[in-house]
Amino acid sequence: MYGGGYIFEEPNKRPLDADQQPEDPEKLAAFEDRITRGEKIEPGDWMPAAYRKQLIRLIEQHAHSEIIGALPEGTWITRAPGFKRKLALIAKVQDEIGHGQLLYNAAETLGKSREAMINDLLSGKSKYSNVFNYPAETWADVAVIGFLIDAAAIVNQVANAKGSYGPYCRALERICYEESFHLKQGHDAFIELAIGTPAQKAMLQDALNRWWPPIMHFFGPPDKSSSHSEQLMRWKVKMASNDDMRNQFLEAYVPKIWELGLTLPDPALMKNEITGRWEYTDPDWDEFFRVINGEGPCNAERLQVRKWAEEQGRWVRKALMQPITEKRAFPVA
Ligand code: COA
Repeated sequence: MYGGGYIFEEPNKRPLDADQQPEDPEKLAAFEDRITRGEKIEPGDWMPAAYRKQLIRLIEQHAHSEIIGALPEGTWITRAPGFKRKLALIAKVQDEIGHGQLLYNAAETLGKSREAMINDLLSGKSKYSNVFNYPAETWADVAVIGFLIDAAAIVNQVANAKGSYGPYCRALERICYEESFHLKQGHDAFIELAIGTPAQKAMLQDALNRWWPPIMHFFGPPDKSSSHSEQLMRWKVKMASNDDMRNQFLEAYVPKIWELGLTLPDPALMKNEITGRWEYTDPDWDEFFRVINGEGPCNAERLQVRKWAEEQGRWVRKALMQPITEKRAFPVA
């Protein structure tokens, strides 16, 4: 039913429920050798069913995050301060939807249809990023999202773009180009508020305080309790662990925040110069699990908007799928 993305890849033909059957040891060893050599796995290649299942889960969650992620910023399009900020925000939100399109297309190559993915999102079966379940209360929230959440996403995506599954890596490469631009516009809006009037700076500080715990959650639970990392890293789907990505983010962006005279709501946050790693107070992981399991402040609202959009767009999809002869609104003379 859904129109394709910008790139079209052939789907993998293996039945989806094959992950329950034991793998052929020779094929598995040859597959793992290819991964070790750094080769890309393509949709028509043999792959273990668990690799395919994990990729579908991860890419699908990523695609959902892009289309849901457009919602908190989207609500600010009509209220953006000034014409240039409005134009940039419209373009950014449009890009995020395009990223969803690229990613759904990459996930479809693994054999799950777009409709099945959207149904799983709307029924609450599939997850999407925790950060998009919080409200964007002020314009400063938009600056924090554009700067720090896009920065966090880039840390994750630049790493995973070097991974093993061809269609996902190609989609990520393109996404990273656009995300780098988003980050620049977010940083610019962030700096403008940070060096603005006392009221603007206070508004930014308030947004930063509220967004910091979800941003710390963004990279996933600590390595010791991450259920998928070991297998995903062995198969080079995930190219850095959750804690390593979090550390990389802190290393690159905390100094930029402090430089602007802002504070972060964690008195323990500091770089340990001996280990070279950042130390911090663990964010509330119970809250993280509540949010990703549907009980965040905006989960219900986000899914309600998506359901409405699905219903409103049904006639467009139906029209696009009709044979060309039935599509004509007027008889041809
Ligand atoms: N938001 C929502 N759920 C998250 C999450 C987050 N920020 N981080 C982890 N989770 C979920 C995982 O999906 C998993 O749940 P599941 O088993 O029901 O699917 C559970 O928490 C345990 O986490 P972990 O084993 O560490 O998951 P993971 O190996 O998939 O790593 C990511 C988590 C986010 C690093 C990984 O999924 C990823 O790189 N995703 C692609 C990028 C992406 O989605 N970015 C978000 C939008 S820009």
